[in-house]
Formats: sequence, C-alpha cells, structure tokens
Amino acid sequence: MSTFTAKPKVLVARQIFPEGLSRLEEVAQIDYNDQALPLSPAELSQRLEGVDAALVTGSEKIDATTLAQASQLKIVSNIAVGFNNFDISFMTQKKVMATNTPEVLTDTTADMGFMLLMAAARRLTESEHWLRAGHWKNWSLAGMMGVDIHHTTIGIMGMGRIGQAIAKRALAFGMTVIYYNRRRLPLDIEQECQARYVSQEELLSEADHVMLVMPYTQENHHLIGQKELAMMKPTATLVNLARGGIVDENALIEALKNKRIFSAGLDVYEGEPNINPGLLELSNIVMAPHIGSATKKTRLAMMHLAIDNLIAGLSNQRPPNLINEELWK
Ligand code: DGY
Repeated sequence: MSTFTAKPKVLVARQIFPEGLSRLEEVAQIDYNDQALPLSPAELSQRLEGVDAALVTGSEKIDATTLAQASQLKIVSNIAVGFNNFDISFMTQKKVMATNTPEVLTDTTADMGFMLLMAAARRLTESEHWLRAGHWKNWSLAGMMGVDIHHTTIGIMGMGRIGQAIAKRALAFGMTVIYYNRRRLPLDIEQECQARYVSQEELLSEADHVMLVMPYTQENHHLIGQKELAMMKPTATLVNLARGGIVDENALIEALKNKRIFSAGLDVYEGEPNINPGLLELSNIVMAPHIGSATKKTRLAMMHLAIDNLIAGLSNQRPPNLINEELWK
C-alpha cells in the first residue's frame, strides 16, 4: 500500500530550459512564469504565497516586500553566482535558505572579461561601426590605434574564482598581475596566479587594464567614481564584469568623454536593462547585455545546479551551495 504525500509547490519565476522544467515536475507542483519578462515585485510576492520553494534569477528581488506573504517558503534558489538580489539577513531571519550557482560559470565568465578587455583595448566595436558605415577607404599607419594587452599590467579587483581565472588567462599574455581583494589570498594561490597584492590606490594607478570582478555590496556602491578614475592612467581600460552599481556611470561617461581613460568594456549597468543614455553616445566603449555566463553549456549547468540546490532544500538535505549556512547549524 502506498502512502500519498502531496508534492511540494515550487514557483519557477522565469523561463528555464525544458529539461529543467521536466526535472522539477517530477518532484513538485509547478507555478511557472513562462514569460521572458520578470514578474513585478507585487506579482512575485503574491505568487510566493503558499509555495515551498522558488527558482529565480538575479532579476528577482527577494526581500521583506516580496517575502511578506511567503509563510511556507523553505528555499530560494538563484540561477546566478551573484546574489545581491537577495536580502540575506532578512531571509535568514525568516529561515528561508538562499543558494547560488558558483564554479560552473567561472571559465565562461573569465573568457567574457578577457574578451571585453581585448575589445576595449583594440577598439573593436568602434572599428566595426566605422567599417559598416563605409568609412574605410584605405589602410593607414595611424588607423584605429589601440593599446597593447600583452606584456602590460592587469589590475584585478575581486580575486575570487573568476578573478583568479582571469589572472591565469593574463599570464598566458605575458601580463603582470596585481590584485586587490577584501582579504589577501593564501600564498599558494598568489603563487599559482603569480599575482601581487596591492592597495586599491596602487592598483588603479599602476594597472594598464583594470578589471572589476568583486561581488556587489552596499560598501562598494560607486567604488569607482571620479576620484578613482582620475587615479588611472590615461591609456588604461576599465572592464566591469561584476555589477553596474560598483561604477558611478556619470563619472565614467565624463572620464571617457574627456579621454581621462582610454576605453571601457561593460557587461553590467546600474539600472539594467535600462542604459544610461550618456554611455550610448560614446565611441570608446564596448557594451554587452549582461552575458558573462551566456553559453548554452554554462547556462544549462547553472540551471541544473540551481535545481539541485532547490531539490536538496525541499528534501531537507543541505543544498550544495547554501549561502546562509547558519540555517543549517
Ligand atoms: C551571475 O551569475 O551572477 C551573473 O551575473 C548572472 O546574473
């Protein structure tokens, strides 16, 4: 005789790949937002009422407002490594587990960072627009000159997994690696990445290419503003692979307009998907729509890892990527 147990309820707040939906349907009753657009905070809050778990992306804010009616919720699983969309202390207070998807996207995102650096340094977007507009009449010695990448110095701010993977790519280009991190890395990792720990000020003034890869927190909001941009070399590039809020975009626009720095490569924006119109007017910038981890293989891996986390949480097992670990103690 089998005992009937009702399946738990899961909100899937964004479109996911069909194989992910099939996995979830085997273990849960699904409320699926199959639209490409995110739910509004009011709708998200309403649909979180009565569910046991939710699968979300970095676009859904999980905080006191959206959790107001979520009395049954055990776990929210983010399909992203960054979790600045989560109010972790509120979730912990409410005993809601929070998880993310580290590791599976490290190399793909590091590739993207390096691509933005190369494209910004060598003016790829600007050259292509110029070519497509029919301006290319002849090869010229001084045409579209960029700045070198090989045998220059890269300054990595945020030396977690992705920062370290970028450092290893940089070594293959003969670059000198300097880094800043909240905590200095253990010696063996510094040696593996051949990276020298410096202050933020030293990094900004010494680096030929500055790469931002740190997690976004209240403390580093607008960390890179007018003062910091003024410390950089006029030939330097700035790449932001982390979160838009780390850079004061108005200050960056001024610095690029006045050639205070050479160029920038951005994958993330403060008000994304809305873009500061000043950025769109600049030619010395390369911009991508937050696609750091966007390869099919990596996005599938992120989705499956997020589902593993969610199913573990629902089954009262420790999710592999639990952020608020204190809930497990
Ligand atoms: C991440 O995984 O944090 C990416 O930036 C997507 O949000």
